[in-house]
Amino acid sequence: MLEINAQPEDSVDITQLRTPIKVDLTPIYAFLGSRTSQAWVNAALNNLPLIIQDHANCEKKAAGTAMNLIFRYEFSYDLQRKLAQLIREEMLHYEQVLGIMNERGQEWKYLSAGRYAKGMLKHKRTHEPAAMVDVLIIGAFIEARSCERFAALAAEIDEPRLAKYYRYLLKSESRHFEDYLMLAQSLSEDNIDERVAFFKEVESELITSPDSELRFHSGVPA
Ligand SMILES: [Fe+2]
Ligand SMILES: [Fe+2]
Repeated sequence: MLEINAQPEDSVDITQLRTPIKVDLTPIYAFLGSRTSQAWVNAALNNLPLIIQDHANCEKKAAGTAMNLIFRYEFSYDLQRKLAQLIREEMLHYEQVLGIMNERGQEWKYLSAGRYAKGMLKHKRTHEPAAMVDVLIIGAFIEARSCERFAALAAEIDEPRLAKYYRYLLKSESRHFEDYLMLAQSLSEDNIDERVAFFKEVESELITSPDSELRFHSGVPA
């Protein structure tokens, strides 16, 4: 039976959201090879409009990537169902961030993609099902890192409404991380541990090395 995940608190209007439940971030921190630097947090807080714009882009891209997977890998019921739910949630986040931008009087601004996702996707194997497994593992890292960064921002941001919203996001993003990881393992014939360890290093390098661009998933501000 399908569980219904769009509960009443999942409103497009972030002022209608209930107090976020506490999310245990221990598995996220264990999965990631590094924590976000204070330098990135400081830069993000000093450039909030850019971070909010990039966050909007990320939500849209998360939905788009999942939609591509839905079209490409139609054989798996589990994958179809999990991704359909994920797309619904990412699009809700997208609408919520658009609402935040509107409320702040922030106009939409084109922002190029940073190096982060590309930096992982260039290592994607080209044969199937390895390519699919790699994309799912990369998805798990992107979701886990988003979760870690929302928590880091929520801890320090001066704006209570945004802090609450970022805390609200932890619940879904940590579940997205688990879903991607579970799908990667269940759809792979081999154990994925080695591949996860490989991407853990690649991801960590992108987060801990100097980066000339500031983005939601950028490295240490150069
Ligand atoms: Fe999201
Ligand atoms: Fe997500």
